[in-house]
This record gives sequence, structure tokens and C-alpha cells, in this order.
Amino acid sequence: QAVSSFLNDNSSLDYAADDILIAGGARPLIYATFKALVDPSDNVLFPVPSWNNNHYCHLAEANQIFVETKAENNFMPTAAELKPHISTASLIALCSPLNPTGTAFTKDGLKEICELVIEENKKRGAGEKPLYILYDQIYWALTYGETKHYDPVSLFPELKDYTIFVDGLSKAFAGTGVRVGWAFGPRFIIDKMKSILGHVGAWAPKAEQVATAKYLSSQEVYQPYLTNFRIQLQQRLDAYYDGFISLKKEGFNVDAIAPQAAIYLTVKLNLIGKTTEEGKKLATTPDITKYILDDGKIALVPFSAFGASEDSVWYRLSVGTTSMPDIDGLISNLRNSLMKLS
Ligand SMILES: Cc1ncc(COP(=O)(O)O)c(C=O)c1O
Repeated sequence: QAVSSFLNDNSSLDYAADDILIAGGARPLIYATFKALVDPSDNVLFPVPSWNNNHYCHLAEANQIFVETKAENNFMPTAAELKPHISTASLIALCSPLNPTGTAFTKDGLKEICELVIEENKKRGAGEKPLYILYDQIYWALTYGETKHYDPVSLFPELKDYTIFVDGLSKAFAGTGVRVGWAFGPRFIIDKMKSILGHVGAWAPKAEQVATAKYLSSQEVYQPYLTNFRIQLQQRLDAYYDGFISLKKEGFNVDAIAPQAAIYLTVKLNLIGKTTEEGKKLATTPDITKYILDDGKIALVPFSAFGASEDSVWYRLSVGTTSMPDIDGLISNLRNSLMKLS
């Protein structure tokens, strides 16, 4: 009931309590969506880099079909990239704002993908399995500047029959340890997910549910918190972005995509072929990752860890655990490490 009111208060989404499932975080809900909708060897379509879709496909014994997204599209998938695979898919797993990129769908970008799904479902016969969208919007409350969050159902109400949303406390409310997430969608699918998770035992503990219901019903408490949290995250993201852009201007082979959302910055470290002071050649992305970690004491996660190709030199920088005073020091550590390379 509290999530239903929260959605009414903060979006144009209208879901009754019976269309919503609460669980121990977003993860069990993603698992339940896969288990409810995907039969073994069904095709599941998703963009890479993205978070954990490969693992959920593995657990559901699905056939993974992934499309590698491009820097020029802020690493968000386009309708043109997805189109060739739509006709054979049972599920398309989308996430916006996206982990690991910190970027989000534009209105037109998402609209075009939604139109593909609508068109595809019109083509499928009565006995055929429709194409569903898993829409993970767990970072939706963390957008910056001009960036706005969009979702399939607000854009196209007819997609309500085909969309399962996933959200929770973990990210925007920095409550990873609290373990409360929610999914909402067509009631007959939510009911199946409920049965699956009932047997897994992945419900959220009662005390956390009561506390979350109280919290989500207190706009006067969470709105000021969110406003302040967004300001802090944006400051950190902007500071890292500015740092990377100044290194780029100094002539180092690095780059970054302007932050739009979530707690991540997309950065590029194209150091392939460089040689360290000890004479070691950086020949692969893992070589770069290790050098930056050992020498610069900076832990970045390569996009290959999120399904992108092994030779991608793009990385996720998370600002979840850094604070403003650390940032200048980290950028200067990175500058020193870059200067030592020949
Ligand atoms: C896109 C996305 N969805 C879901 C989750 C999992 O959230 P939870 O901690 O609520 O299980 C994460 C966590 O990293 C995430 O990045």
C-alpha cells in the first residue's frame, strides 16, 4: 500500500497494492521475473554493459542475446541495435538509469524501443508468448541537470500489460543493507513471482517492511534527504568528470562521459601499448586495471565485467564511497601514474 501511494506521489504510475510485490531487495525480484517469464532456452535480450543480466539468464537457463552499446549513445541501447533480435525474444531486460554507466534513456530513445515492443506484440498470435520488458529503474530518483527519468508505461499506457518494474530502497535511499525492494506489473505475473519467492524465502523481514512503509509515507522526510543526496552525488560526479577532462586536455589518453544519473561515471583509460617504469607493457585491459589499482590506488571496474568485450577500455567509476576531499588527491594520483608511463 505504501509503495502504491509512493508511486502515485512521485510518478504517473498507478498500481494497486495487489499489483506490487515486496521482497528482500531488488535481486530476488529480478530473479523471480526471469523465473516467471522465461522458459529454459528462451531468448532474453539485453544491452551490455549492464548489471548481472548474464547471471539471471544463467539461473533461468535462458539463451542470452546481448547487444554491445556505443560510447556515442552514452552506452544506452538504441531501437536499431535491438530490432534484429526482437522477434525471437521472450524478455527484454532494460535498466535506466544504468549501472555501470551513470547514463539514462532519452525520451525519444526509450520511445523507439517501446514502439518496437508494441509492434512485435501485435504480430504475435494469441497462443504465442508475448514479449515482456523487465524495467529496472532502481536509480530513477538520482538524475542530474537536464536528465529526466522515463519509463515504458508512462510513455505508452498499453505497455502496462507487458512491463515488470523493479525498484527498491538500496540505491536512491542508500539502504543496501535494509533489503527492501519492490516489483510491480501485471497482477497474474506478480502472483507467479510471489509464489516463486515464497518458496525461495526471499521476502523482506517484517520490521524492515514496517519501517519502509512508514518512511515511504513521509514525503517531508525523504524529499529533503533525496534533494541533499542528489546534490552531494552530483558534486562528486562533476568533480571526477572535471578531473578526467583536465587530464584529457593535458594530453593523456583518457576520457569521460558527462554524468547524467545514478552513482557512476563512465571513464576511458586507453593505455594499451604503454610501458610502466618497471618495463612492463600494458597489453590488455586487465593490465591497465591492475596498474591503476597498484600504482594509483584507484579501483575502477572495467566494462568487460558487465558483459562488454574483453578489450573495452571503458570503466565504471563509482562515487558511492568517496567524499569530496578525496577527489583532488585521486585525480593527482592518477596523473602521476599516467606520467610514469612511456
Ligand atoms: C541496476 C541494479 N539493479 C538492482 C540491483 C540490486 O539491488 P538490491 O541491493 O536491492 O538487491 C543493483 C545493485 O547493484 C543494480 O545496480
